[in-house]
Amino acid sequence: MSHRILVLPGDGIGPEITAEAVKILNACRETGLELSLEEGLVGGAGYDAHGEPLPAATLDKAKAADAILLGAVGGPKWDKLEDIAKRPERGLLGLRKNLNLFGNLRPAILYPQLAEASSLKPEVVSGLNIMIVRELTGGIYFGQPRGIEQRDGQRVGFNTYVYSEAEIERIGRVAFEMAQKRGGKLCSVDKANVLEVTMLWREVMERLADDYPDVELSHMYVDNAAMQLVRAPKQFDVIVTGNMFGDILSDAAAMLTGSIGMLPSASLNEHGQGMYEPCHGSAPDIAGQGLANPLATILSVAMMLRYSLNEGELAARIERAVGSVLDDGLRTADIAYPGTRQVSTAEMGDAVLAAFHTSA
Ligand code: NAD
Ligand code: IPM
Ligand code: MN
Repeated sequence: MSHRILVLPGDGIGPEITAEAVKILNACRETGLELSLEEGLVGGAGYDAHGEPLPAATLDKAKAADAILLGAVGGPKWDKLEDIAKRPERGLLGLRKNLNLFGNLRPAILYPQLAEASSLKPEVVSGLNIMIVRELTGGIYFGQPRGIEQRDGQRVGFNTYVYSEAEIERIGRVAFEMAQKRGGKLCSVDKANVLEVTMLWREVMERLADDYPDVELSHMYVDNAAMQLVRAPKQFDVIVTGNMFGDILSDAAAMLTGSIGMLPSASLNEHGQGMYEPCHGSAPDIAGQGLANPLATILSVAMMLRYSLNEGELAARIERAVGSVLDDGLRTADIAYPGTRQVSTAEMGDAVLAAFHTSA
């Protein structure tokens, strides 16, 4: 049976990095994996062509796909759009919400070859392997009411931070099961000293822990978690947290791995359908210059194979190919340092492709 893959390049560096990831997808096809690839418009690209960041045709294709590969959306061109609903980021949020992709996996893994690229001391990050499980379809990103309105002669902006017990429970189960498969440790990150919504979060996590006696559950306030991530990140195995805290903590975790350009992600619903994207954005400052690191997107393809297509062996082969390219000293600008060889986005993609072919 052929798997339907929808590729959504998006904006900024999106098209450059997805082009490299598609090379790897095509190489997987040559191994006998049946894939049918389609493209679609999302974000600013969707808005420019159809006046919508999530055109109806794109949403239809997304619903019909087994998995989606997304580059990135957004950029200064659309930042001033009066109608907030037309902003590129809304296209991405619409995909997540419409497909119910509540379970966001963001693995921060340090390739040993990149210990020198991290802004932290090698001994602090060496061997790092953290899985951040971020809730992706609720919390303050989606809570109602929200808006900007006139009150007492001035404008006020407001959002609502809300989680139901059911929403907390389903992301909690994803995280506990992930911890069972990994090192057996789960740290739930909240702000339960201040926010009622996260008091409930903590209570539900405590209750779930009874079902997973083999997992050691701990709790941490988000401000401390941010500090601990840069002080002693290896204390973490799996972290579970809400939508906004997860967004922020995963960018911080990215730097432990050398660059935001190294962090892939999977966003899953309960049927195993998934969207796969690098954690970084559209990087308008480097777009179109061949400077972007495509590895987070290529590693997102590996996650797609593992989580949506049940092709763990091929996934591991892609990850090994990335490792061998790093062994050879090839680096995009963001992870380059003296003694390494700086290459462009496409050269990096080609090198991974070559390594993939030779590592059969
Ligand atoms: P960003 O992640 O795009 O960039 C932050 C910094 O990291 C920049 O200096 C950029 O050059 C660098 N960077 C990012 N990805 C890189 C890569 N692959 N290789 C090398 N360097 C890389 O974040 P930002 O500047 O805050 O946001 C830019 C735009 O992207 C905004 O419109 C934002 O809304 C959007 N955004 C989209 C996504 C997404 O599509 N998932 C995620 C985050 C931000
Ligand atoms: C991410 C991004 C998105 C988020 C934005 C672009 C909506 O920062 O995927 O991390 O905040 O979730
Ligand atoms: Mn983010």
